[in-house]
Amino acid sequence: MSVFPEGFLWGAATAAYQVEGAAAEDGRCESVWDVFSRQPGRVVNGDTGDVAANHYHLLDVDLALMSELNLNAYRFSVSWSRIIDDDGAINRKGLDFYERLVDGLLDRGIAPFLTLYHWDLPQRHEIRGGWAQRDTAQHFADYTQVVYDALHDRVNNWTTLNEPYCASLLGYAAGVHAPGRREPRAAAAAVHHLLLGHGLARSIIGDNVSVTFNLYPVDPVDPDDPIDVDAARRVDGLQNRLWLDPVLCGRYPDDVLADLAPLGFADHIRPGDLTLISAPLAALGVNYYTGHHVTGQPGGITPEWIGSEHAHNVSRGLPTTAMGWEELPDGLFRVLNRLHDEYPRLPIHITENGAAYDDTVVDGKIEDHARQRYFEQHLGAVHDAIQAGVDVRGYFAWSLLDNFEWAEGYAKRFGIAHVDFDTFARTPKLSGRWYATVAGANALPE
Ligand code: NOJ
Repeated sequence: MSVFPEGFLWGAATAAYQVEGAAAEDGRCESVWDVFSRQPGRVVNGDTGDVAANHYHLLDVDLALMSELNLNAYRFSVSWSRIIDDDGAINRKGLDFYERLVDGLLDRGIAPFLTLYHWDLPQRHEIRGGWAQRDTAQHFADYTQVVYDALHDRVNNWTTLNEPYCASLLGYAAGVHAPGRREPRAAAAAVHHLLLGHGLARSIIGDNVSVTFNLYPVDPVDPDDPIDVDAARRVDGLQNRLWLDPVLCGRYPDDVLADLAPLGFADHIRPGDLTLISAPLAALGVNYYTGHHVTGQPGGITPEWIGSEHAHNVSRGLPTTAMGWEELPDGLFRVLNRLHDEYPRLPIHITENGAAYDDTVVDGKIEDHARQRYFEQHLGAVHDAIQAGVDVRGYFAWSLLDNFEWAEGYAKRFGIAHVDFDTFARTPKLSGRWYATVAGANALPE
C-alpha cells in the first residue's frame, strides 16, 4: 500500500462554463465563451455551454455524487457573469447559487476550493479590449471583492486564476480559445494583466490564496542540437517560467522578456506591479496532463509560434489519450521536484490531473480501465514525489463530470462520472469507483 499523509485532500474539479449550463438564467450575462462557442467553426460540432452538464439545476444530485465518491474536497469556479451584471450591479441570484453549493459541501464535510477565474470573462469587458486592457485587472479585483465578501466566512481555499497561459496565449494569440483573437501583442499584454489581476485579487483575499498554473516537463528532441535545446528553453519559458517566476520570485525571466520584447511586453509592466504579483501565497496549484518533447526552427519567437507549442511537439512513441496528449506520469514527478528544487517552497495542490478517453457504455456501465490506469500511475508519481520530500497536500481529479471540453465540445470526456447528455443522468465510471476506494483508504492499493 502507498499510504498518503494524514489529511490528504482527495478531490475532483470542474469549472463553471464547462458544467453549469443555465447560460441565460437568473440574470447571468454573456461571457466570451458564450460568444466564441456560437461562432461557426470554433468548437467541434458547434457545441456550446448553454446546457453543459446541467449542474446549475442538478446541484443536489452532484453534491450526493461527491459524497458517494468519498471526496473530501471539491474545486469549482465562479462565473463572473453570474455575479456582476452588465450594468455593474451585484446579482444576488448568482451569489445564491454559490452559497448553496458551498453550504452543501460544508454540510457533507467536503472542503470548497474556489477558483475566481476559469476563462469566462464577461463579454462587456472583452468589448472594451479584454485582458489586453489594464483596466480589466481592476474589474477582476472588484468582482473578487464581491465574491470574497459573500463567501470568505465559509471558504478557506481561494484560487485567483486557472491556467492564465491558456486565457492569454491560447485566447489572444493562437485564437483557439475565446475570445479567438490572433493578436500576439494583445496576448503579451494579457499575460501581464492576468498576473496583475491575480496580484490585485490576492491583496483583497489576503492569506489562503493560491493560483493554478498548467506546468509541463519540456525536453528537446535532440539534446545535442542547439536549435532543439533553444526551442525547449522557449517552450519552458512560455509554459512554465513566465508564470512561476513573477509570482514566486517577483521577476520575469530575462530570456522570456527578451523573447517577448518584439511584442512590447515590458511596456505593460508598471512600478509596483511585480510587488503585488509576488505577494506570498498559501499554496500553489498545479494542473498536469502531459509533457512536451520539442524541436525547433531558428529565429526565436515569431507571432505564429506563440501559443502553438503543440505544433512543435514530436511524438516519442508513448501511449496517448483521446486528446492526443502523451501519457507521461514521470513528468508529474519531475514537475513537482523542479518546484521543490528551483523555487521558494510552498504547499502544492494538484488542482487538475486526468485524461479523456473514448468511453463506451455497455449495459449501463463504463469500464474505463485506461482512465483508471492513468490515475493510478499519476497518483503513484505524486506519492513518489511526497516520499522525495515534496509538500503535496491534495489531488483533484479532472473532472468530476464529463463536460464541455472547450474547443473540443462534448466530444472529449474527462469525467470520473459519465454524463448522459440527453437525460443528464450521472453514472460513476469504473475509474470513479476506484478513485472512491483510494480516497476512502487514503492509499493506493499495491
Ligand atoms: C485544464 C483546464 O483547466 C480545464 O478546463 C480543461 O478541461 C482541462 N485542462 C482538460 O483539457
